[in-house]
Amino acid sequence: MTRTHPVVALCPGSFDPITVGHEQIIRRSLAFADRVLVAVAHRATHQKRGLFNVEERVAMIREVFADEPRVEAVEFQGLLVDFARQCGADLVIRGVRTVADFEYEMQMARMNRSLSPALDTLFLAPDAEHGFVSGTLVREIASLGGDVSRFVSPPVLRRLQERFAREEG
Ligand code: PNS
Repeated sequence: MTRTHPVVALCPGSFDPITVGHEQIIRRSLAFADRVLVAVAHRATHQKRGLFNVEERVAMIREVFADEPRVEAVEFQGLLVDFARQCGADLVIRGVRTVADFEYEMQMARMNRSLSPALDTLFLAPDAEHGFVSGTLVREIASLGGDVSRFVSPPVLRRLQERFAREEG
């Protein structure tokens, strides 16, 4: 296939906070795209109670990918398909860890294609060592004083430590 423009991939999510699992999927996305937009949703479909606000989540993603100019962190409101159209994204990339993820992801991918037929979703399988890592578990473990240093990058760990030290103090 001849490309007439740089391929833009959208990696959308809650990223509350970004984990090493997300990071791996985002870095691997660069094999399929010239630019990767990591898009932090203001309101996820499955709304969860947030720890960090959207600005903090975007800031952490920028810190984590400071070494990679092809990755950009942005925030978005509203429907993913509308945002994808606005930023000229060619595809959406999502990591799928479990069977439960798969059902949810398949439903979203089909719905997004039904809303915007040109928008395809590419699923990537995280490596086994990242298959059990999630933002939800990282938040819970960090809030209870557990060690999450294997599951998040140093800038994220620092913010988690600051957040929970402040809550304890
Ligand atoms: O990290 P998450 O919480 O699994 O990400 C879910 C996300 C943000 C990708 C999804 O909730 C989403 O796309 N939200 C934007 C609103 C939208 O388009 N909803 C319809 C999805 S079919």
